[in-house]
Amino acid sequence: MSKVSIIGAGYVGSTIAHWAMVSGGCQVVLVDIVEGLAKGKILDLIQAGPIAGHSVDAIGSSNYNDTANSDLVIITAGVPRKPGMTREDLVQVNADIIKSVINEVVPRSPNAILLMMTNPLDTMTYLAYKLSGFPRERVIGQAGVLDSGRMRTFIAIETGIDPENIHTTVLGGHGDEMVPLVRYSHIAGMPLSYFLSQEQIDRIIARTRDGGAEIVRYLKTGSAFYAPGASACKMAQAIIKNQHHIYPASVYLQGEYGMEDICFGVPVMLGRTGVERIIELELNDEEKAAMQRSADLIRSTMAHLKLDR
Ligand code: NAI
Ligand code: 2OP
Repeated sequence: MSKVSIIGAGYVGSTIAHWAMVSGGCQVVLVDIVEGLAKGKILDLIQAGPIAGHSVDAIGSSNYNDTANSDLVIITAGVPRKPGMTREDLVQVNADIIKSVINEVVPRSPNAILLMMTNPLDTMTYLAYKLSGFPRERVIGQAGVLDSGRMRTFIAIETGIDPENIHTTVLGGHGDEMVPLVRYSHIAGMPLSYFLSQEQIDRIIARTRDGGAEIVRYLKTGSAFYAPGASACKMAQAIIKNQHHIYPASVYLQGEYGMEDICFGVPVMLGRTGVERIIELELNDEEKAAMQRSADLIRSTMAHLKLDR
């Protein structure tokens, strides 16, 4: 049985715990620095188990000792966006939180895979990679599953076609310059242009890029959590069940896509050891330029990061 620890029992962390218990196959440990928060949420979730018919193998805690020897640690601790705030605005406040979390988690679970959720996602994944000292295969950021899922949703709304038939590829950073790749997206093997006009495709791309902010504008305080939670759980299942699934994820690049020393969203194969393979798609000049703009935005965010604080 795999042990999956989730750090941060806020909206995203507790939703991941819920999905993980519904999916089963792991023991869940939910941790938050706020005394009682994780305990209370897990108590509620395990009481749902007998009713909804899902796992009750979970504990809530404010003590990192309970995370010891985790196979997978999902890090959601941090502050979410408020209206008008970009993900980049969050950088230093969340960097300080991630540093303290890494210091607690890594000595207790030196062989774990880290799955990062905290924003700004690519920068926090980079920070976790640098601070943990883990090989790059074991530090992974979730964004592309969510962004691709949003694009699938908007295509389904626009066409009326079942999302099961819709496959999308959104790469790059989890920010306003994310890169929805129309050429690598299809509906039952047919190009998007078979079902959608260029105007519709442009509208879908814009809404995908704005997907997180659209929800923040409605919620006013806090950001999305159901789809992010489902996305993290998909990736967690691929890892703990050794599924060899291919998903877009933020990983540390060493020359792939012509990029170095950056965490960036690219297609990866996930299994029990983490990133088993990075897949390099052939891109045209326009797509390469979009990837570059996205990388530039991440680098400008990383420039706000003070690693020595
Ligand atoms: P939230 O405010 O509901 O929960 C965050 C939790 O982290 C709080 O309960 C807080 O007490 C806890 N926390 C803070 N410092 C901690 C520490 N040192 N140790 C343990 N717990 C600590 O926020 P929410 O909505 O759950 O979002 C969490 C993060 O996830 C944010 O940075 C948000 O921007 C990000 N996010 C990322 C997504 C993605 O696709 N990668 C999607 C949605 C949100
Ligand atoms: C989202 O895209 C806030 O990153 C989060 O919903």
